[in-house]
Amino acid sequence: MKFIDQRETLRTQTNRLLEFNRLLVSDIDNTLLGDRIALKSLIDYLQSSGVAFGIATGRSIESAQQILQEWEVPPPDLWITSVGSEIHYGEEIQMDLEWSGYINDQWQPELVREAIAKLSGIKPQTAEGQRAHKISYLVDPAISPSIEEIQVHLQQSHLQVQVIYSHQEFLDILPLRASKGDAVSYCANKWNFAIENILVAGDSGNDELMLISGGNAVVVGNYSSELEKLRGQNHVYFAAGDYAQGVLEAITHYQWQ
Ligand code: GLC
Ligand code: MG
Repeated sequence: MKFIDQRETLRTQTNRLLEFNRLLVSDIDNTLLGDRIALKSLIDYLQSSGVAFGIATGRSIESAQQILQEWEVPPPDLWITSVGSEIHYGEEIQMDLEWSGYINDQWQPELVREAIAKLSGIKPQTAEGQRAHKISYLVDPAISPSIEEIQVHLQQSHLQVQVIYSHQEFLDILPLRASKGDAVSYCANKWNFAIENILVAGDSGNDELMLISGGNAVVVGNYSSELEKLRGQNHVYFAAGDYAQGVLEAITHYQWQ
């Protein structure tokens, strides 16, 4: 058992986060899911290896639960959802309220909506994509300003936020302190995982900050072009295999088997 300062009434589901020294955090769409056979091997590995398991996704917690059920993935120990703006634990899906409170600093969602509404080629996603700490849009890159221009526009509107672009299509605006990377670092600290004992896996733009957050990382073979710039970075392994096959390859690469 690792020593932990238990600040909250987090129940038994978090045991694996306390007991295990290693943590795999995987994106869901196009990373964990895509190849059922490789996924089965990865689940078998997780059930026998003494590695705690987390997901980090752009999906909401409800949508993440649903898709994992459809693919028969056992409930993870750690759920980082809505692009890192929410953290939950275990089968009981206990929300980490300390995280929500921490990222809420300087968050002014109404002002963000007003500022973005002035730009062309950017329309809000449906209600399902909107969360307390995540405002999401669909972008038409042929019409919209560039991501850099959007960032400058928000800064000039005195809004300190995180701007995350994925698949040349999705735009997420989050509180400055929130991203998948920040959420992974927070959990590493909270649950006493040494950074080198964390393996993160992803395929697209909203994974970038967690892939460069300092632990061991893998970009799966079927990655989206916005991650090309990470090639050659220390501790970012580009797998040949797609989806869960790429994650399995990284487990071998980092000698976690
Ligand atoms: C998921 C979310 C969406 C978000 C996208 C990229 O598809 O549902 O709201 O924009 O991930 O992060
Ligand atoms: Mg993905």
